[in-house]
Amino acid sequence: MATPPNSGEFERDVVVIGGGGHVGLPLAIAFADRGARVAIYDVSEEAVARVNAAKLPFDEPGAAPLLERAVTAGRLTASTDPAVVGTAEHVVVVIGTPVDEHLNPNQTAIPKALGTCAPFLRDGQLLVLRSTVFPGVTALVEKMIVGLGVSIEVAFCPERIAEGKAMTELFELPQIVSARSPQGMDRAVKLFSLLTDSVVELSPEEAELAKLFTNVWRYIKFAAANQFYMMANDRGLDFERIRKGLSQDYPRAADMPGAGFAAGPCLFKDTMQLAAFNHNNFALGHTAMTINEGLPLYLVHRLEQRYDLSSMTVGILGMAFKGESDDIRSSLSYKLKRILEFKADEVLTADPYVTVDPRLLPQEEVIARSDLLVIATPHPEYRGLVTDKPVADIWNVLGSGVRV
Ligand SMILES: NC(=O)c1ccc[n+]([C@@H]2O[C@H](COP(=O)([O-])OP(=O)(O)OC[C@H]3O[C@@H](n4cnc5c(N)ncnc54)[C@H](O)[C@@H]3O)[C@@H](O)[C@H]2O)c1
Repeated sequence: MATPPNSGEFERDVVVIGGGGHVGLPLAIAFADRGARVAIYDVSEEAVARVNAAKLPFDEPGAAPLLERAVTAGRLTASTDPAVVGTAEHVVVVIGTPVDEHLNPNQTAIPKALGTCAPFLRDGQLLVLRSTVFPGVTALVEKMIVGLGVSIEVAFCPERIAEGKAMTELFELPQIVSARSPQGMDRAVKLFSLLTDSVVELSPEEAELAKLFTNVWRYIKFAAANQFYMMANDRGLDFERIRKGLSQDYPRAADMPGAGFAAGPCLFKDTMQLAAFNHNNFALGHTAMTINEGLPLYLVHRLEQRYDLSSMTVGILGMAFKGESDDIRSSLSYKLKRILEFKADEVLTADPYVTVDPRLLPQEEVIARSDLLVIATPHPEYRGLVTDKPVADIWNVLGSGVRV
């Protein structure tokens, strides 16, 4: 493992723009944990205040003690003042890169965020793009830097962690590193060697596509499983029994996922980014989107065939976009809720992790008041659920099959 690069010209080693977010903060903590002097620049006053108070703004297993240690030791500080960007040798950009309501990627999100910081960029810095970007954004930023007249090298090193696993994956996953110049590549490799010995070098254009292909591949696999699920379910068959049977001691099918809501802030929007990149000519990606986004509708349609929903209270257990997470961004549980609100007499919601939704009720109350329950997020807490109410469980959390 490398030691923190220390040119002596800069007060700090790393500044993370967007470092109050779900991937920026774990990264900042990881660098600080490896001895680097780190600052965060973030527009969110709330996130900055929490970090400076050594408190996580969201749940990330394993991060809290490392954050506390880094802040107490003075190795990690956060600010809403863009001037902090000028204090570090490495400037890492991890702001959000969502698609808009028309599913268009915003190619200018990163150049715009950098525009605010432009007066503070300094000769000798290495600018590392870490957000998932629309292909071509690295080249756009390189052009922008040339236009600013500063001598800064640009690298694109995409984040590949999964939320909830950041504090292990940051140190264990190979880091994809790319830069146009050999010096930029060399410096980016050195920076990420602080975290891991395993670095993969690609060109910026290869790395941009590598990141998108990775997420879209996962999204398409979930879609295939969800389509198989609906096919089997429509014929009264339990997809989970079929999946277990076909993958038993059969390595070529071992990676077939179970059915479930494929949601969250990355997979859908990155599939749409890739579609836009390919001039909307991406039948496979669009089909995956239709299947995954259609699953809540399918589920309600099936429930409607068995129950008179209009006279029932339906309880949704799990509002986070995935198990053991408090993150509700782009969660399909909320889509399910909206559809059910239109069909059912009443819809109640609960989640043991989510803290940001005041409409959530205690789980016991939801179970007691509901006529029908839907497990929408595979939180392990639901495994021991004991109830005489019917439960729709497409995730097979209860282990008694996924037929609905
Ligand atoms: N969430 C994941 O699991 C994950 C995994 C891999 C990659 N990514 C990618 O990482 C990027 C960030 O995702 P995230 O989930 O951390 O998003 P996030 O919304 O949790 O974090 C983004 C942070 O950037 C801050 N911010 C926004 N605009 C800013 C600006 N102009 N200047 C300074 N700060 C600004 C926000 O306040 C926020 O704290 C995205 O490109 C995403 O696709 C996410």
